[in-house]
Amino acid sequence: MTQKLLELQAEARDAVPAANNSADIEELRRHFLGKKGPLTQILRGMGNVTPEERPIVGKIANETRELIEQLLAEQTERVSARESESSFDAERIDVTLPGRALNVGNRHPLTIVLDEICDIFTGLGFEIVEGPEVETDWYNFVALNIPPDHPARDDHASFYITDDVLLRTETSAVQIRTMEQRQPPVRIIAPGRVYRRDAVDRTHCHTFHQVEGLLVDEHVTFADLKGTLDVFAKRMFGERVRTTFRPHYFPFTEPSAEVDISCFLCDQKGCGVCKGSGWIEVLGSGMVHPKVLENVGYDSEKYSGFAFGMGVERLAMLKFGIDDIRLFYENDLRFLRQFR
Ligand code: DAH
Repeated sequence: MTQKLLELQAEARDAVPAANNSADIEELRRHFLGKKGPLTQILRGMGNVTPEERPIVGKIANETRELIEQLLAEQTERVSARESESSFDAERIDVTLPGRALNVGNRHPLTIVLDEICDIFTGLGFEIVEGPEVETDWYNFVALNIPPDHPARDDHASFYITDDVLLRTETSAVQIRTMEQRQPPVRIIAPGRVYRRDAVDRTHCHTFHQVEGLLVDEHVTFADLKGTLDVFAKRMFGERVRTTFRPHYFPFTEPSAEVDISCFLCDQKGCGVCKGSGWIEVLGSGMVHPKVLENVGYDSEKYSGFAFGMGVERLAMLKFGIDDIRLFYENDLRFLRQFR
């Protein structure tokens, strides 16, 4: 029996160091130490050994087990060092390769201008409010002092869903919705998409964006309107810009005015953008018509207010020198990437 154990030791000394990968080592572990392996067999035969011999054989058997385990452990260490080295080799990273460029997006020019408008007015204490794009005739027209058959409706050819429901033609409808829900003081701007049944050309599109403004309180005067829009124009187009208020007509304001700014491109010397006049029309405005205040249940003797409305596309075209409104909607990256 002792002889068999010594043979086993010799066999392990030969076989284990020859194993050159972890799978082979596992195979040898099963072979030498497994339940059906030679060591187990030998130990099962211990019953036949005389009591005097038993401690000696037991000692050699233990030494054999320890030896085999040690050989396996040493070989495992050697092999796994080699294996991880070769896997490092296989997975080596070439740090000199050029990186993969990340495409960073940028805001759409209309978003840039809209954000700027919102920042200026929130800085002046206005709150941003939104309303639905599908409106009723009441909110889009009648409450704004545009009854059926009013000639102003001609400018607002719209997309009708029913006789009474349409895609809104102006964000002014949000004035009414807001005033219905709160009492003065009201100080809001309402940005959003509007629709008109216009043929598409360089300056027209069926879908565009407006920002509506409304301020109602006691003792609001035309001077407040002028001051507010003058500050807006200077922040938007530069401190040198001056404003002028040209009498105009809107059904929902009285008096009404269109606001022109001095041409910031030619300093009023006359250029293509201001068409030689030195002035550029930028928005519509006026004092809220008493009928509009009454339509929402406000006391028009006690309260007064001003309102204004501007086209985001128009302002963006002026600011960035864009001469065709269609460029905003074509999603041509060569155009859009210029606004980083
Ligand atoms: N709603 C007008 C338009 O679409 C713009 C406008 C003009 C709004 C004057 C106003 C205003 O609130 O006072 O052309």
